[in-house]
Amino acid sequence: MILHTIAEVREQIKNWKKEGLTIGLVPTMGALHAGHKSLIEKSVEQCDRTVVSVFVNPIQFCPGEDLDKYPRTLDADNKLCEQVGADIVFAPSPNEMYGEGHIHSNDFLTYVIPPYFYVNKLCGKSRVGHFDGVCTVVNKLFNIVRPDFAFFGQKDAQQLIIIRKMVRDLNIPVEIIPCPIVREPSGLALSSRNKYLTDGAKEDALALSKILFNIKACYDKGITDIESLKDTAFSFLNEHHNLEYLEFLDADTLDEKTVADANTRVFIAVKIGDVRLIDNIML
Ligand code: PAF
Repeated sequence: MILHTIAEVREQIKNWKKEGLTIGLVPTMGALHAGHKSLIEKSVEQCDRTVVSVFVNPIQFCPGEDLDKYPRTLDADNKLCEQVGADIVFAPSPNEMYGEGHIHSNDFLTYVIPPYFYVNKLCGKSRVGHFDGVCTVVNKLFNIVRPDFAFFGQKDAQQLIIIRKMVRDLNIPVEIIPCPIVREPSGLALSSRNKYLTDGAKEDALALSKILFNIKACYDKGITDIESLKDTAFSFLNEHHNLEYLEFLDADTLDEKTVADANTRVFIAVKIGDVRLIDNIML
């Protein structure tokens, strides 16, 4: 069932809560793929009722990013949600979420601003304001759906860590469930933005997972010096790759690591043409 208004969702949630049912939320921006499917399956398995939100959130896109061309495939998304057993697809318009004319207007909209320490690194460095938009919309979705559990993919590991921090800091009564990255057999991590890749660019995109898998293999052989591990990346890069970052950070706190250990997550972002791809791996 697709619902487009907050009032309709609230009504349904009220009834479920009265019945004592547990509610899972899978927040998405649509263009659903097997990665999202795995999150929805997990929620359906774990919760009595599952809500999937499909909302291309304008306030998390920075100027010059792909807001207008971001893939919008609501019919296909709804079909997949039905197949997997989700109960509601919540697909609001930007006006429904933010009120007419209030988008991108700091004068009118209340934002949730995550801490600078967590934001001023990795994707937050080049996507200024992105995580303010993410935290604001996720907080709104939590208030609308009041889920017991919310499911997030580890592909966006920085996002996941920031949302966990927000939930702790603001005492939001929801349990965040991290879900593993889903990859194509080639190793490429699934992403809605993979739709932008030409065949050639898709080949180039394999460098991200190859670099990460190779770093993990080197670490497993006993190399813990981060500069040596970083150096192994360059043989996978060619003139089509614009490496934005390759960082070794603590998987819980995003503190910089001086020596790689079992709680290190390696994060990579590469631009291939106009397409910016991210991936990560636990050591
Ligand atoms: O990861 C995403 O797709 C988005 O950032 C999210 C969490 C749905 C918020 O818009």
